[in-house]
Amino acid sequence: MNFLLNTKKAIILIPSLFCAFSIFAQTEEVFLVTDFDGGGILPSTWESFGDLGLYGVQRNNSLSDGKYYELAWNGTSDKGYIVSQSGITFRLIPKKKLKGKTIDNVFLRLDVNCGGAPGTVVNIVLVDGPNDCCKNEVNWQYTFTKDTCEWETLEINLADFGYAYGSNNHEKTIDFTKVGRVKIGINPEQGPKKQVVQFDNVELVVKENVTAQGYQPNIVIPESTTLKTAAKDFFVGVAVNPERVRATDHSSVYTREFNSITAENAMKMKSIFKGLDENMKIIYDWTQSDAIVDFAENNGMNLHGHALVWHESIPDVLENFKGTNAQFEAIIGQYITTVVKRYKGKVDSWDVVNEAIADNTTKMRESLFLERMGSNYVEKCFEFARKADNKVKLFYNDYGLEHDVQKQKGAFELIDGLKNKNLIDGVGYQMHLDYNFPSKATLQTATNLAVDRGLLIHFSELDIKTNPKGDVNELTEQRNQAQAKKVYEVVSVYNNIPENLKYALTVWGLKDDESWITPRYGFPDWPLLFDANFKRKKAFSGFVQALE
Ligand code: XIL
Repeated sequence: MNFLLNTKKAIILIPSLFCAFSIFAQTEEVFLVTDFDGGGILPSTWESFGDLGLYGVQRNNSLSDGKYYELAWNGTSDKGYIVSQSGITFRLIPKKKLKGKTIDNVFLRLDVNCGGAPGTVVNIVLVDGPNDCCKNEVNWQYTFTKDTCEWETLEINLADFGYAYGSNNHEKTIDFTKVGRVKIGINPEQGPKKQVVQFDNVELVVKENVTAQGYQPNIVIPESTTLKTAAKDFFVGVAVNPERVRATDHSSVYTREFNSITAENAMKMKSIFKGLDENMKIIYDWTQSDAIVDFAENNGMNLHGHALVWHESIPDVLENFKGTNAQFEAIIGQYITTVVKRYKGKVDSWDVVNEAIADNTTKMRESLFLERMGSNYVEKCFEFARKADNKVKLFYNDYGLEHDVQKQKGAFELIDGLKNKNLIDGVGYQMHLDYNFPSKATLQTATNLAVDRGLLIHFSELDIKTNPKGDVNELTEQRNQAQAKKVYEVVSVYNNIPENLKYALTVWGLKDDESWITPRYGFPDWPLLFDANFKRKKAFSGFVQALE
């Protein structure tokens, strides 16, 4: 056992002993320690699985004791799946102790380094079966990039592990009586050609009182408390469309509960940009967008403009445009300038570019804009917007910023560049989440990226899937409560942002039966704060409770 870490642990543990009888104390129980000394594996806690001898390295290190484990890959073979093939896996033994624990309370803690290979993509997998991959077993995976090669202690909440085989799935019924192995390795499909991961002192830690303390399942929110009155220092927004702002059943709830709106589709390029005349002047249709702008104006609501440039909303005439790149760029300039000028003083903020970074990478997403306007197209768009109206607030908006560390890196590089040129005011985290993903800790880390940079923050499209895998046919009480708790976490994180950086928290639609989630993903879902009958759900209560 590493002496220094031992000391650190003593510091963590002693106060919790003092507070052992207080319900607010955070106690932790550490077990399954592997420090790789004394032959590597402590038989009473872990047992080896596969050929560990190959990888054991003995070395002294300022932060470590005698031994740690190192895996290296130098790009010579694309069969570098050390995770699943080299046998660096450990079987967990004291399963009984984990029985009955929820994943919110269990953490994997370990020391990691990247041994001179910055950018190493590290995979950690929990497995519930005997095979290396995928056969009748569940693999929960956590991936991160280790950029600076120094030892650091990571603590990962099991709630942040995603289901490894199957896109977008986050299987979160980890059966602790079955979880048998932890696999640690490198992902050669991503990251640089040379990758190294060194690790030591792997522990499983059970903490008590880590979950949202404040959310109370049975609290009934009085009728007179509304979302906008509960939020004292930021706007609460809702995505709307022209038909619904005209329908009184909807509009009465919009004006009662919210003080900001975003057009769900009506202010996107496809809704406004209807063609090009022979002089390459854009033909506009303002009916949809004006309806939204008028509604905001007539009801004294804040209006967030969404979105000037988005790869999913490109008019056909641009998709099929035969002119030069310079002509294409001039048309985009014409579009942004005209729209932003038209709504000067009426639109408070714009998403200038939406979703420019590709998933799980730091790279720009392939799109017509990238192809036609070049790698600095985002900057060009922000310049057009700034020039058209130097008062309106300009945002970069994206999904996955809440948890995708690669995308975060790419996006904030882009944002930093814009900020250096004073072209951007804020960042929108879309917040299309699942009832069990990501964890509050991950949301907090993500939010801090914008707080640290002094940017305005918009949680811009909040909805929380209750059926991401399509395994239920109705909203079960368990999912309903889990969703409410997740809303509570999201709103708590938002509310903790320094006041001057809070902008708005916007939900992506009013009621469950109108959400884009079901048509988009093909499963029935209940992702919003109101049910099909305009009734406030538990999720509504979670929202308000987080503000009390
Ligand atoms: C969605 C709308 O909700 C749908 O009605 C439409 O068919 C597609 O777009 N990210 C965004 C939003 O920035 O504009 C998207 O809205 C949802 C994902």
